[in-house]
Amino acid sequence: AIVVRRQMKRSGKWAKAMAILKEFENKCGTPIAKLRQVADAMTVEMHAGLASEGGSKLKMIISYVDNLPTGDEQGLFYALDLGGTNFRVLRVQLGGKEKGVASQEFEEVSIPPHLMIGSSEALFDFIAAALAKFVATEGEGSHRYPGRQRELGFTFSFPVRQTSVSSGTLIKWTKGFSIEDAVGEDVVGQLTKAMEKIDLDMRVTALVNDTIGTLAGGRYYNPDVIAAVILGTGTNAAYVERAQAIPKWHGPLPKSGEMVINMEWGNFRSSHLPLTEHDQALDTESLNPGEQIFEKIISGMYLGEIVRRVLLKMAEEASFFGDNVPPHLRVPFILRTPDMSAMHHDTSSDLKVVGNKLRDILEIPNTTLKMRKVVVELCDIVATRGARLSAAGIVGILKKLGRDSAREGAEQQKSVIALDGGLFEHYSEFSSCMERTLKELLGEEIAQNIVIEHSNDGSGIGAALLAASHSQFLEAGEP
Ligand code: GLC
Repeated sequence: AIVVRRQMKRSGKWAKAMAILKEFENKCGTPIAKLRQVADAMTVEMHAGLASEGGSKLKMIISYVDNLPTGDEQGLFYALDLGGTNFRVLRVQLGGKEKGVASQEFEEVSIPPHLMIGSSEALFDFIAAALAKFVATEGEGSHRYPGRQRELGFTFSFPVRQTSVSSGTLIKWTKGFSIEDAVGEDVVGQLTKAMEKIDLDMRVTALVNDTIGTLAGGRYYNPDVIAAVILGTGTNAAYVERAQAIPKWHGPLPKSGEMVINMEWGNFRSSHLPLTEHDQALDTESLNPGEQIFEKIISGMYLGEIVRRVLLKMAEEASFFGDNVPPHLRVPFILRTPDMSAMHHDTSSDLKVVGNKLRDILEIPNTTLKMRKVVVELCDIVATRGARLSAAGIVGILKKLGRDSAREGAEQQKSVIALDGGLFEHYSEFSSCMERTLKELLGEEIAQNIVIEHSNDGSGIGAALLAASHSQFLEAGEP
């Protein structure tokens, strides 16, 4: 009798856990009709953000980039890419139409976590020091005009109010950075100060968001690139807009008639977004409550954390992992998205990877195959929601550009979207679901003309290219 009762108790708990999972799944639902509403809302907010400063949650930041790379760029340029857990420095030798990117070297440095929440000076000093070290390795293969100051494209992947193509002030931090004294300050000014302190003779000639860098890098190789999307630690998009479609732009009309816009779509929010209690809690406890809601249900910084929160609820309310709640399951951000991805992609019959991850990260030693299957299902629910919503976001952009439907008589033009970021690159269930959903939303015929192109680390090269096209020496009329 005791055994029977214990079994009943256990199956009652299992049913409870499944009910929690099911409820979560329902709340995360992204049927096609909902995705269309999200895409429409994105288009509406884009219009509002372009109409006036502060007109929308979408900042629609004017990048001052009104010319994208042509291929003529020449010379030795540096780039600095800051925005995730790593930053990269690179050196690119540009050889014009004939030689293209003749050579490129880079170095990646991880940012000590304490610098992400410390002081602005400490962060920029650290960056300048790493940059100086890299510059010191400039070898014989580098063809720098003698005596000419080195020039740098700075990819700074946070919302910046640009004041020119090479200056701007930080609006706010995102993605786990929180350095109070940098907010509202001139980003380039701070980097320049740090470089001067150590006598590093270098000038920033382009300050760009990673989406803008990716767009520039993508366009360099493919003239049909019209937008760029980052799916990484954070998420965001940039695209080429007609200058005349930007009511809030009061400057002179650029010769090209175009202006690149950094949407900052991570901050998008709409009543149509499928949000759950776990998203609410994650947001409330985050460094930036109330902000970056789209980002918090899509991007790499958060997906694993959402999975953790649901598992914790299942452990607490349905003893999913046994009578005790595994203590590690209570640690915020302990389950990283790369680990979630590894579990999601586990193809072994006994889900060995899932078992190992649960054991090694959460210190849950014994899990049954049935439990592991549930974990995989949970990963699938969270990733699917994010992937489908990012597809809806892309459709929102295509709609804004009138490229989401066939126009009568018009020969269909190709629209290439440059994609980058670790989530896109390494989480293939995510990227394939995103691309499938895009087709589903656009329909076969239109989808044929929409191309998703992986722009591998395009943002660094893109920044170097923009540094080249905005070189101080070009302005001075020198070669
Ligand atoms: C965050 C930043 C944004 C960046 C994106 C991807 O959303 O605010 O500027 O482009 O992450 O790195």
